[in-house]
Amino acid sequence: MNVYDSARMSDVLRPLGYQPVDLPDAADMIILNTCHIRDKAAEKVFSELGRLRLIKEARAAEGHPTVIAVAGCVAQAEGQEILRRAPYVDIVLGPQTYHRLPEMVARAARAGGAVIDTDFPAEQKFDFLPDTEAPQTPGNLTSFLTIQEGCDKFCSFCVVPYTRGAESSRRVASVLAEARRMAQSGVRDITLLGQNVNAYHGEGENGEIWDLPRLAYALAEIPGLSRIRYMTSHPRDMTDALIEAHRDLPQLMPFLHLPVQAGSDRVLTAMNRGHTADEYREIVRKLRAVRPDLALSSDFIVGHPGETDEDFEATMQLVRDVKFALAYSFKYSQRPGTPAAGAPLQVPEHVKDTRLQALQALLREQQDEFNATLVGKTFPVLFTGEGRKPGQITGRSPWLQPVHVLGPRHLIGQELSVKITERLTNSLSGELVEETEYA
Ligand code: 5AD
Ligand code: SF4
Repeated sequence: MNVYDSARMSDVLRPLGYQPVDLPDAADMIILNTCHIRDKAAEKVFSELGRLRLIKEARAAEGHPTVIAVAGCVAQAEGQEILRRAPYVDIVLGPQTYHRLPEMVARAARAGGAVIDTDFPAEQKFDFLPDTEAPQTPGNLTSFLTIQEGCDKFCSFCVVPYTRGAESSRRVASVLAEARRMAQSGVRDITLLGQNVNAYHGEGENGEIWDLPRLAYALAEIPGLSRIRYMTSHPRDMTDALIEAHRDLPQLMPFLHLPVQAGSDRVLTAMNRGHTADEYREIVRKLRAVRPDLALSSDFIVGHPGETDEDFEATMQLVRDVKFALAYSFKYSQRPGTPAAGAPLQVPEHVKDTRLQALQALLREQQDEFNATLVGKTFPVLFTGEGRKPGQITGRSPWLQPVHVLGPRHLIGQELSVKITERLTNSLSGELVEETEYA
């Protein structure tokens, strides 16, 4: 979502005469868009700011002022702390106020001190942002599109409800208009974004509330959008209607990010996830019944307060049962202000390390196994660019792996059948089956 937000900040600043540059040394304004989800991400902000201070000083010596802004969830959560530790920062803005950036830039130019805006405004920023312009990827064939933000679920470990705010959905008309513009500019593969994307409940033209499956059916009507994805979903909002959309819509890609976090019911309860491990297994069963080629990715946390060896073994068992094509796993990180941070029975660091290693080894095995099942198969690949080797072009599989083939450059932008011949560590190679575009 920060990638999408950064592109929108760039859109909002363009009318003021700003354009993106490659290096911070050449920039009149530097915006750090930050993440607060784990301690490591948040700490990185301060080390990065230290580097930017040197750039600001060097440029000042040459007579060029530099505006430094900190955006995103660290700004939201630690605005005052940022100004205390890095007084050379000019602007601090939360994720819900970046439509006000032009005003903040003007105020920063006038004001002696820093400008800070970490409100949760009543207005929706999407109603105030200019139309999307900045291409997010070369050739603009793939794109993110935020449709929902924030979260009311309050998992024990998570800062999102405090940093991104309450769950809120973007209006249907605004989403559809942006999707159409993207499709017209050549986007083929779109990823709908939200911290709880499948809890989407956007307001339609006549005040009716649309859910995610209804939105997906409408998006599938847009010419050119041949691939639709959404993330991140919560198991509790994986409704039957959404599962049926996976049956009905070939555009909905057979690859779903569905974080489960843990496989022990005791830990799931402590985490306030609101479902059991078996309920998760059941959702997966239903999804695979309607879309047998559906692959899953997930997020895991090891070492949540109170997690025992037995609990951890239940996570390993869930992984063995479900089989994931891809997964992200993390050591539990204490986040200020969250219920789990102050909970008793914090798990020692070395125990988290051991569990993380075991889990990651199993997940790596499953990722390799999944990729191995694709060797010999033929499926559509959306070609997005040139490959690393001469004569190669590269694209995305329906499951998001990079796929390399030998082929002419003019095929970039097309979706073509490829037969996979080999599995590499994090990608696949194959050969073009025919040079006809996938309908
Ligand atoms: N510690 C470790 N991982 C976390 N995540 C969220 N909060 C924490 C935390 N405090 C992970 C979850 C979530 C992903 C985006 O980040 O797995 O799904
Ligand atoms: Fe965080 Fe997701 Fe839980 Fe919301 S549902 S609190 S975003 S982990």
